[in-house]
Amino acid sequence: MALLDKHKAIETHATLLLVLSFLVVTIGGLVQIVPLFYLENTIEKVEGVRPYSPLELAGRDIYIREGCYVCHSQMIRPMRDEVERYGHYSLAAESMYDHPFQWGSKRTGPDLARVGGRYSDEWHVDHLNNPQSVVPESVMPKYAFLGRTEIDGRYIQDSMKTHRLVGVPYSDEMMEAAVEDFLAQANPDADTEGLLARYPGAQTRNFDGQPALTEMDAIIAYMQVLGTMVDFSTFTPDAGR
Ligand code: HEC
Repeated sequence: MALLDKHKAIETHATLLLVLSFLVVTIGGLVQIVPLFYLENTIEKVEGVRPYSPLELAGRDIYIREGCYVCHSQMIRPMRDEVERYGHYSLAAESMYDHPFQWGSKRTGPDLARVGGRYSDEWHVDHLNNPQSVVPESVMPKYAFLGRTEIDGRYIQDSMKTHRLVGVPYSDEMMEAAVEDFLAQANPDADTEGLLARYPGAQTRNFDGQPALTEMDAIIAYMQVLGTMVDFSTFTPDAGR
């Protein structure tokens, strides 16, 4: 009975009710928010996720410059229709080195989060040169000029430096070898041992089939790595918990 009386006293006293409600919400809020300040990272680390190689990073810069994200998302939601169409749903860790992230909000074209390995390099070259030549009903614009634009990695160290500033763990060794790695990835004659030690699993080959290193090489290197860093045949969502 005494408890009910107290309850009634609070409920019928507007100011007291307000003060006590505020207190409860404050405590609840603190319990939720404060631990986050003590976590180094709220993203669960997943094996295989590594920073982009210099050439992949350049490809990503081109992807952003050309506004590919306006028509393509990179975020597979954990819903059955999406997972059946595109593959395993996207993990937060898979975009932890993406600054800015490329999740996107519009799908005029398909999601690209797992496009790596889905098509051959030649398919990408044909498709970027003239999308309608491989998909007649496509509304995607032509990007043939990418194959005519040579690149030499002159700016790649600056780009990596900027990414390092916002938390991408590019080591001093990676920074020093940036231009060398940039040039080596699409050159079949280059020694890629160092590149592969620094960026495990990086794909090394002449992506666009031409002798010169072009923006086409960079964007295809980027397309082909998307969604391939995590091995989903061994991945379990609970690992590491
Ligand atoms: C105006 C919208 C638009 C823009 C901009 C655009 N795309 Fe597309 N893209 C599409 C559409 C529509 C399709 C589906 C038809 C096709 O395959 O061409 C597509 C398909 C693709 C595919 C094949 C995906 C799959 O799973 O079949 C890739 C890869 C791709 N685009 C890459 C790019 C890249 C790289 C850029 C930027 C250089 C880009 N797109 C810019 C609309 C766009």
